[in-house]
Formats: sequence, C-alpha cells, structure tokens
Amino acid sequence: MKTINQLQNHRTYRQFDKNYQLSETELQAILDSARQAPTWMNGQLYSIIVIRDLTIRQKLVELTPNNPHIKDSSVFLVFLADLKRTQKVAEKHSTPYHVGESVDPLLVATADAAFALENAVVATEALGLASVVVGGIRNEIDQVAKLLNLPDYVFPLAGLTIGKPIVEMKIKPRLPEKAVVHYDTYQDYDYALIEDYDLTMKKFAEKRETKDWTKKFLDVYSTEPNGKIDAFLKKQKLLK
Ligand SMILES: Cc1cc2nc3c(=O)[nH]c(=O)nc-3n(C[C@H](O)[C@H](O)[C@H](O)COP(=O)(O)O)c2cc1C
Repeated sequence: MKTINQLQNHRTYRQFDKNYQLSETELQAILDSARQAPTWMNGQLYSIIVIRDLTIRQKLVELTPNNPHIKDSSVFLVFLADLKRTQKVAEKHSTPYHVGESVDPLLVATADAAFALENAVVATEALGLASVVVGGIRNEIDQVAKLLNLPDYVFPLAGLTIGKPIVEMKIKPRLPEKAVVHYDTYQDYDYALIEDYDLTMKKFAEKRETKDWTKKFLDVYSTEPNGKIDAFLKKQKLLK
C-alpha cells in the first residue's frame, strides 16, 4: 500500500533547496532503480547522463529558460533513447544496421528511456525528494546534443530535475477515468467528459496553466510542426 499511496500522491515540484546535497547513496538508489526498469527484449536501449556540474546546468537553463530548477536543485539527469550501443555491436561484427529505416527502433528505445525515467521519479519520491520531468531540453535540441556530446543514434528524450522541495504543490486532477480506461475493447466516450476536464482544471486553477486543456491541445496540434525534431532525428541517423 505504501507504494500505491506514493504513486497516487505524485506531483511535480518546481522549487528546490539549492543547497541540498544529494548523497551518493540517494543518487545510487535512484540510478539503480532506473536501471531495473523493464525494457524491450532486455535491450536497455537508453542511457542516463548525470549532471552535477553547475556550468553545464546553467547552459541548459539558457536553452530552456522556463526550467530554472535544472540549476536550482541537487542534480539533473538526462534520459536518452540510445541505439548507439547496438550499433557498436553491429559494427564490431560487420553486420548491417537497419536502424533509421523504420520508426519502430526509435519508439522502442524511447519507451525504454521513459520506463527508466519513471522508475527514477518513483525512487526519488520514495526518498522523500521530488522531481520535474523536463521535455524542455528538446526545445533547442541541436544545442543540447552538442553540449552533452551526443553521438549518432542517440536522442535526448527528457531531463529530470531532482531535489528537496521547498514549496508545497497540490495533486493535479486527471482526466475522467471513462475517457482514459477501456475494458476489453476501445470504447468511444462522450465528448462532454473532455469538457468536464476543462472545468476540473479551471477549478484547480494552476498558475502556470493559462489555457484550457482543450485549447492547449487545439493550439499544439493545429500548428504545423517546425520540423526541428525530425531534422535532428535524421541527423542522428534515427530516421530516414
Ligand atoms: C515528457 C514530459 C515532459 C515534461 N516537460 C516539462 C518541462 O519541460 N517543464 C516542466 O516544468 N514540467 C514538465 N513536465 C511535467 C508535466 O508538466 C507534469 O507532469 C504534468 O503537468 C502533470 O503534473 P504532475 O506531474 O504535477 O501531476 C513534463 C512531463 C513529461 C512527462
């Protein structure tokens, strides 16, 4: 029950005690938990960069200014979808490497990285600490890749700020269960359920949310993609 309670109490904290030093034992517990996540075919197609260096963290904040906690916290981890390791194996054995010719390897490696990341979130919370998942590192993906010296076949999925929270946060309500959970087969559901969530979130009145949930995704998906991520994936040999 302790784990269930913890999972259902999850929330993102964004303000941390800058001076809190994460112990080696705490960091190791988070990394070991991340590495024990399930992965496709036990492929472990991901890597983690542990960033303590304040200069690098400052540069990351400059590339994603809405995430100052990257620096004002204890440590920043970056979770990478990593198909470089298996490319090294292919190279060693002089076999073809067909990664990049289908989106499947990328999807699988991205999922592997995401499972490891979520395990790190759960471990962090079990230690009484808190975190922020930072997709913002993909805003300036080329510069982030350069800064972190990422080789071909590697994609930075998200970062994870970890620290000791200093400002309490409320548990954020989720979409209605009926709009998310299906039994036996996918069932269509009433559009009103989606609108209900706009109301729920309005009442929740989160300061950082300036738009309704529906408006947010209307805007996101009605805007033509800028092509940055696709171009990056092509550069990394992860997409044709
Ligand atoms: C892939 C991903 C990327 C995210 N990127 C950011 C981010 O760049 N900055 C941030 O403050 N929160 C980020 N978040 C946190 C989400 O905003 C947050 O999880 C969501 O609003 C739900 O809130 P909760 O975690 O407090 O329940 C991200 C979460 C995920 C899963």
